[in-house]
Amino acid sequence: MLNFEFKNPTKILFGKGEIAKISKEIPQDSKILMIYGGGSIKKNGVYDQVKDALKNHEVHEFGGVPANPEYEVLIKALHYIKENNITYLLAVGGGSVIDGVKFISAAANYNGEPWEILTKPVRTMEGEGMPFGTVLTLPATGSEMNSGYVISRRETNEKLSSGGPGLFPQFSVLDPEVIRSIPKNQIANGIADAYTHVLEQYMTAPSSADLQERIAESILMSLQNTAPKVMAEEFNYDAAANFMWCCTMALNGLIQKGVITDWAVHAMGHELTAQFGIDHARTLAVIAPSHYRYNFEAKKEKLTQYAERVWGISEGSTHEKAEKAIVKLEEFFHSLHIQTKLSDYTKDFAGTAEKVEKAFTERKWLGLGEHKNLTPKDAFKIVEMSY
Ligand code: NZQ
Ligand code: ZN
Repeated sequence: MLNFEFKNPTKILFGKGEIAKISKEIPQDSKILMIYGGGSIKKNGVYDQVKDALKNHEVHEFGGVPANPEYEVLIKALHYIKENNITYLLAVGGGSVIDGVKFISAAANYNGEPWEILTKPVRTMEGEGMPFGTVLTLPATGSEMNSGYVISRRETNEKLSSGGPGLFPQFSVLDPEVIRSIPKNQIANGIADAYTHVLEQYMTAPSSADLQERIAESILMSLQNTAPKVMAEEFNYDAAANFMWCCTMALNGLIQKGVITDWAVHAMGHELTAQFGIDHARTLAVIAPSHYRYNFEAKKEKLTQYAERVWGISEGSTHEKAEKAIVKLEEFFHSLHIQTKLSDYTKDFAGTAEKVEKAFTERKWLGLGEHKNLTPKDAFKIVEMSY
């Protein structure tokens, strides 16, 4: 097992009705900016619950953060914060709103040009960001209990990430009741995103970190078991609760400790969102099977372990089991009505692989993956395989 440090300071308030407790988590003298997305919280009652919980606090509002949080919109929030001497941020939404708030938190106390935080990128250390909490409305990204974030800039077709230990939420409310109002395609996205988060930290080379590997496998199996229940018409609270906690556990740092991690699927997937606006999770479903086929030899043993332990495949050679594992992964995405080829999403895919190769080369992302040896040319081939 590799050496590691682990600190996750985010307090979780999990369960039905927990939103009511947030007033105790935010200092009474705070000037709060409540930040949300396109308005789903006004339809499903979350907005009212938050306002009610904070009725004795000074609360300002900033709505309209879009999916794949847009830099230009966040800059407006940044101006608002400075003009109104805001001291505390509250994200009420999915990964996009939470990521947007993390960027604002980082930028609020940053003296340079805000875009540098993403392009350099600048890590935000403890005490440097503006304090914030979150009320999660869409389980998927794990952003509610980690310190990373991803921001899009449509002007330049870029989607870049940053983070740092100063960007953990102080608290996050996880009330599974919010899942009632989520459209099924977004629930499917959440399952696929969390599932791929686990794979990025697991589908590498065999490790000696038995506990981390078995926790990762448990999250995968739990997501598989829970998926049909949360995709069903009727709301099932316990299934929703398991789904929500799986998503958080998939990317709160725990399973990546002591092991090597990949994240190349995300790097390539972000390019597809930047170019075509495809939902984040769906870009992962497009890239992951091709990535695992392209890197088959390097990942064969782990693919086999995944086939055996997660899918219960006992027949066949190592090679056959590993191949079956990728087919099972594709079938799992399809069971969520998520397609796994770029051509399922756009007819304009010609030239995409070249653009990804060029972007990675320009950013000097010359060695991605768990062994830092996946070149821009390899990314070209993987993206081309995913057409
Ligand atoms: O904007 P509103 O009106 O709230 O609607 C949202 C949005 O349209 C809607 N929604 C959210 N909660 C709802 C709801 N609709 C009904 N009922 C509810 N309870 O769902 C839509 C999608 O929301 P969004 O926040 O964009 O989805 P998600 O949570 O999947 O976040 C995606 C973003 O997170 C980034 C992605 O790249 C993408 O930009 N990621 C962040 C990560 C992190 N910080 O660790 C890791 C991930 O890999 C990912 O890259
Ligand atoms: Zn993701």
